[in-house]
Amino acid sequence: MPNASVPTITLRNGLELPAIGMGTWPMDNAQTASAVATAVDVGYRLFDTAENYENETGVGEGLRRIGIARSDVVITTKFNKRWHSREGVREAFSASAAKLGTEYIDLLLVHWPNPDQDRFVEAVQGIADLLAEGLVRGIGVSNFKPAHLERLADAGLIPDLNQIQVDPRHIREASRQANTRLGIVTESWSPLGRDGGLLQDPVVTALAEKYGRTPGQIVLRWHVQQGLVPIPKASSRAHLEENLAVFDFSLEAGEVAGLSALDTGDAGILDSDSFGH
Ligand SMILES: NC(=O)c1ccc[n+]([C@@H]2O[C@H](COP(=O)([O-])OP(=O)(O)OC[C@H]3O[C@@H](n4cnc5c(N)ncnc54)[C@H](OP(=O)(O)O)[C@@H]3O)[C@@H](O)[C@H]2O)c1
Repeated sequence: MPNASVPTITLRNGLELPAIGMGTWPMDNAQTASAVATAVDVGYRLFDTAENYENETGVGEGLRRIGIARSDVVITTKFNKRWHSREGVREAFSASAAKLGTEYIDLLLVHWPNPDQDRFVEAVQGIADLLAEGLVRGIGVSNFKPAHLERLADAGLIPDLNQIQVDPRHIREASRQANTRLGIVTESWSPLGRDGGLLQDPVVTALAEKYGRTPGQIVLRWHVQQGLVPIPKASSRAHLEENLAVFDFSLEAGEVAGLSALDTGDAGILDSDSFGH
């Protein structure tokens, strides 16, 4: 059953998305299966994987092991650039669905736009085909810049979700605004700043001290309070539990702004005009 203690966000197509999810990169299949089963037990209902992570089988295994109904979880996965065509996307869907052991995928994402190939519009059209057939429940993209989204909008294709790197040191204002303008929900990857020292930043640790929370909880609260959907990766039950327990306190507006002031700009962000797989 859906987890009543985790709020949901409604995507532009009506799909209800849990306000926080679980990332699975860089775990292998065995680690993923174990962590996903624990995460369901803890209360997670949104799971993020990708063809490129080579752990979709583990996600499916973890969900089966814990025995949760398929309709009670939201699965997002992504495909690589070799599938950027309408027929290619269909093949990518079939391969991912088989590995996950599911008949449908909630959100299928174009992992990177790869504009050098100039086929991301076709890729999104391919996802739209699957949506029309009920094989996916929403259209997702990842690492799409505002210019890439405009190309899609010109073709009459507006995704439901754009998963981009966001954390208080990379607040991605322009990208988030472009998403919001089109009604696209922003999902935050590497929401804890991965291992870049964000959780030791004095601004974060001071708030942790003030609220009696952990630095990770302060950062995740910064995301959810702004309507961003973070997908922290955690492998231990302790971290999984901690990361989900961010819906019973609030940061003051000035504190959200103070965290956002840690922004270092987009220079440290992988440039999706040149990087992609
Ligand atoms: N679309 C894309 O191109 C893209 C790119 C990168 C990542 N992603 C997705 O985003 C997910 C999250 O990103 P990420 O894994 O790079 O970074 P992240 O979630 O910001 O950080 C993960 C790291 O933080 C640790 N951690 C988790 N909870 C913690 C807590 N409460 N306190 C202290 N440390 C904690 C984890 O360790 P433990 O495992 O020990 O808990 C892990 O080492 C990925 O797993 C993947 O699903 C997408």
